[in-house]
Amino acid sequence: MTLLAGLDIGTSSVKGLLVDPADGTVVARAEAEHPLSTPRPGWAEQDPEDWWAGAQVVLGALREAGAIAGIGLSGQMHGLVALDASGRVLRPAMLWNDGRTGAECTQIEQRVGLDALIAQTGNRALPGFTAPKLVWLARHEPELYAQIDRIMLPKDYVRLRLCGEHATDVADASGTLLFDVAQRRWSDAVVEALDVDPGWLPRALESPACSGVTSAGTPIAAGAGDQAAGALGVGVDRPGPASVVLGTSGVVFAASDAFAADRAARVHSFCHAVPGAWHSMGVMLSAAGSLRWLRDAVAPGGDFAALLAEAERWEPGVEGLTFLPYLAGERTPHADPDARGAFTGLSLRHDRGALVRAVLEGVAFGLRDVLDLVSELSGRPDLGRVSGGGARSRLWLQILASVLELPLQRTAVDEGASFGAALLGGVAAGAFADVHEAVAACVRPAEIVEPVAQWVERYRDARERFVALYPALRGVA
Ligand code: XUL
Repeated sequence: MTLLAGLDIGTSSVKGLLVDPADGTVVARAEAEHPLSTPRPGWAEQDPEDWWAGAQVVLGALREAGAIAGIGLSGQMHGLVALDASGRVLRPAMLWNDGRTGAECTQIEQRVGLDALIAQTGNRALPGFTAPKLVWLARHEPELYAQIDRIMLPKDYVRLRLCGEHATDVADASGTLLFDVAQRRWSDAVVEALDVDPGWLPRALESPACSGVTSAGTPIAAGAGDQAAGALGVGVDRPGPASVVLGTSGVVFAASDAFAADRAARVHSFCHAVPGAWHSMGVMLSAAGSLRWLRDAVAPGGDFAALLAEAERWEPGVEGLTFLPYLAGERTPHADPDARGAFTGLSLRHDRGALVRAVLEGVAFGLRDVLDLVSELSGRPDLGRVSGGGARSRLWLQILASVLELPLQRTAVDEGASFGAALLGGVAAGAFADVHEAVAACVRPAEIVEPVAQWVERYRDARERFVALYPALRGVA
């Protein structure tokens, strides 16, 4: 049997799936966790060697379950991995949720000009993106910067170790701020303006293209950043349903047939993992990450299901308790690395379940902000396809559907990014003619969670409190 492996180099773990291309059945799953380091407030780093070690464990487990005919890679986007001429990793990777580069973003927008930057890259300078991290490195760690020979994104480090190729894909490259998203190639103008040596950059391939082969001769697809791969994994390969993700980050993602950028770049415009397609998306930095934070703070090692059951006992709006999910700053709709989280409206009646419910609702309100902005550019979707660990909770999906006022559909496989990566691996291996054929063969839509009629109005009221809080607390929290 021909089987496909999809690997997702995530923020909390490397996740792998072994998929039968005949109908998308998952034959095996494997996961290896890795730590996240926050050496200073606002910083987020990981050791690329941990990703490689995890990828080996996961691939080893998948290989035991069956022979692999093609591999696809996906991973957390935007992280900066820098290598010296001997191939040594120069410092821990700075991640997508690292907020240290606010000053560098301002500097880049001044140096290139905001309008020119949006025209060249489709995007504005946001602290999570890769280019501001390079500028930070030049200023704060010049001795390391001077040794840079190659740079790459997280999953591309795993590719390098797997097959020796220095390559990336157009979807992931879109999040570097060094990429001409409309033309699907590196932006000479921005690369030059930021003094980046073009020799440092990986080859940028279309996502289903073969980027190299393992020592055993297995083709490795270029793959995609986790959001584009995740969208494929839930069947968002064309305009239509949006991909809604409740992972560590929270995302609303809409596919399009043509490139378009918001005039103020309030949402990201990136290449899709489908040749000739693009997408717009907005990203909140702490979605299911907020729930994990609360669990670790109030019930370390505890069970999410028990906490969710406690939350279910509370009514929508939690008697005025509101949570702002900006634990790591925010990207969409508030491009503000200094934003912080908050609980407001606490009373003596509130217990742990109330805190949990407020977190579920606060994340849903944040995603509503994101949906509204994405809809301005791409039109309002009439269905969301959900993935990410948070989407396993029916309660959270009911809250989210009621706040977004949008039906949310699950798919048979809910590990969007690694599943999408496996499909790309299948195209690279010749099991499918193209990405659309892969999606049609393998993605099986499942249950739809509708908005709860009695909750919709109550959430409109509660959301007014939420929307008022960020401006009110700015400069205080
Ligand atoms: C996307 C983004 C996050 C990470 C999470 O722009 O920053 O979704 O990719 O893994």
